[in-house]
Amino acid sequence: MAERAIHIAPSILSADFADLGREIAAVEAAGADFVHVDVMDGHFVPNLTIGPQVCAALRSHVTTVMDVHLMIAPTDPLLPAFAQAGADILTVHPEAGPHLDRTLQTIRALGKKAGVALNPATPPEAIAYVLDRIDLVCVMSVNPGFGGQGFISAQLDKIRKVRALIGARPIWLQVDGGVTPATAPDVVAAGADVLVAGSAVFKGGGASRAEVYSANIAALRAAAAHLPPAAP
Ligand code: DX5
Ligand code: ZN
Repeated sequence: MAERAIHIAPSILSADFADLGREIAAVEAAGADFVHVDVMDGHFVPNLTIGPQVCAALRSHVTTVMDVHLMIAPTDPLLPAFAQAGADILTVHPEAGPHLDRTLQTIRALGKKAGVALNPATPPEAIAYVLDRIDLVCVMSVNPGFGGQGFISAQLDKIRKVRALIGARPIWLQVDGGVTPATAPDVVAAGADVLVAGSAVFKGGGASRAEVYSANIAALRAAAAHLPPAAP
């Protein structure tokens, strides 16, 4: 099989919320491929983060891909607002609504790429009949709601199954939660090509200490390529 390019998607959930514009510029300068924005509603998940207005404010700071992960229920009423806010990818949870196929059609009709995120207990087959409507599958390797949780290794089997379901389709296979240089090799070996990482990218850094972000992203890339980390 051809080598897949690995994309790194820092989750700004672990960034400094008082300085998000500069944090985004810093991780992009450090080599991020996507900027992952975690939207939480305090209902579908037990945490509250940001809404469409903040996404719209962040848009002008993103020069790569604005990857918006919607952990909200219901999802459909807010899709136009997040599309208007400038998201490039809108990822929804099938567990958050009754009509996934319709939701995915709505996202594409809004001109956006459509993603489906699978909670740890949701089987890979949840995407089996919507594969032609999606651009990204996100395997959650933690229960959504918080950054900094431990990777759930049972999800490796799901990543392999999703990779097989995707086949030759041009669909990204993203993994979200607990991705670090320690877990990335297994995640990539199982078939992922987009690694979301919050704490592993932002730890030890700050917009004024962006060299830390470069080192953290390089460590993830090296692990994904099964290379030893670069000397400090
Ligand atoms: C969890 C979010 C993740 C999270 C990842 O609900 O969807 O994107 O921020 O954070 P880490 O990489 O710290 O597990
Ligand atoms: Zn996420």
